[in-house]
Amino acid sequence: MLETLEYTDAVAEATDPIYEKVRRSVPRFEWEIAAPLIAEINRLKRVRNAIILGHNYMVPEIFHGIADFKGDSLALAREARDTDADIIVFCGVHFMAETAKILNPDRTVLIPDLEAGCSLSESITAEDVRLLRQRYPGVPIVTYVNTPAAIKAESDICCTSANARAVVESLGSDTVIFLPDEYLAKNVAKETDVRVIAWHGRCIVHERFTVEEIQAYRDQYPGIEVIAHPECSPEVCAEADFVGSTSGMIGYLAAARGNRVIMVTECSMSDNVQEAHPELDFIKPCAICPHMKRISLEKTLASLRELRYEVEVPEGVRLRALRAVERMLEVGRG
Ligand code: 13P
Ligand code: SF4
Repeated sequence: MLETLEYTDAVAEATDPIYEKVRRSVPRFEWEIAAPLIAEINRLKRVRNAIILGHNYMVPEIFHGIADFKGDSLALAREARDTDADIIVFCGVHFMAETAKILNPDRTVLIPDLEAGCSLSESITAEDVRLLRQRYPGVPIVTYVNTPAAIKAESDICCTSANARAVVESLGSDTVIFLPDEYLAKNVAKETDVRVIAWHGRCIVHERFTVEEIQAYRDQYPGIEVIAHPECSPEVCAEADFVGSTSGMIGYLAAARGNRVIMVTECSMSDNVQEAHPELDFIKPCAICPHMKRISLEKTLASLRELRYEVEVPEGVRLRALRAVERMLEVGRG
């Protein structure tokens, strides 16, 4: 359903300051379609005592226009834990909204599109985790948050890309099983003495970047700063000047040496940080996450109007998953 709210003077007045933040990535004619939706979503948020949590991969109209809190998976999990809003609308993917529900059983958690999944989430089943536990008795299981609640429930502790190494080292074990992202597991293994047993999940966005591609950019733009997400292969990460979570990558920009940067990650990141870094030119080896891009302004408005789609986690699963998530939050960013 395409919304046809009007771009009135009142809408312009409410949204012009936001446009200043997105003007380098959103053409004016597109903005005049987006702005009435943004104004209406922001009005409804107040009526419903709702907050919107927006992942760093949301399009700029969502990221700058309607998200009350923005960040990486870890930061958004913390916000979800700490909020006193009645409703949390998660502009991100399903595992993130589920984490919010695990932490907030009494609040309504909504996701604008139930199909917003994740290739890592789909790469492993609870039965796989139980079989791994049988195969490696006594070895702790660390699970990346990019998994369904049922997988978290089978785990000893969760981690995000922001704290993976700290979580692995917090366990005091010489070996851990790290699920399900093979590349993140290998990137952590490079940084620690703990032996890491990996699964074979991959992020469809980050696995496509190649060493050759990064080297070609370096040849084309001498001095360019390369910043990568640890879901990229270890070989690609070895070519980068910095490797970190999406928020880690954003934080690193303040220290960027040159004025040209490549963020080796999802497309929207560069658009979203451009406003805070007008001095930087972002070269964009564009890789779109089709799951993140299922979340739109139209669907977010429908979500708030009709209170859909409610994210539910069976209580038995939630309680077991909660232990793993809370244990991770105690470790923090490490
Ligand atoms: P971050 O926790 O680094 O934001 O990563 C989430 C994600 O899905 C990356 O692909
Ligand atoms: Fe999953 Fe990759 Fe999309 Fe992140 S970018 S949600 S890991 S498919």
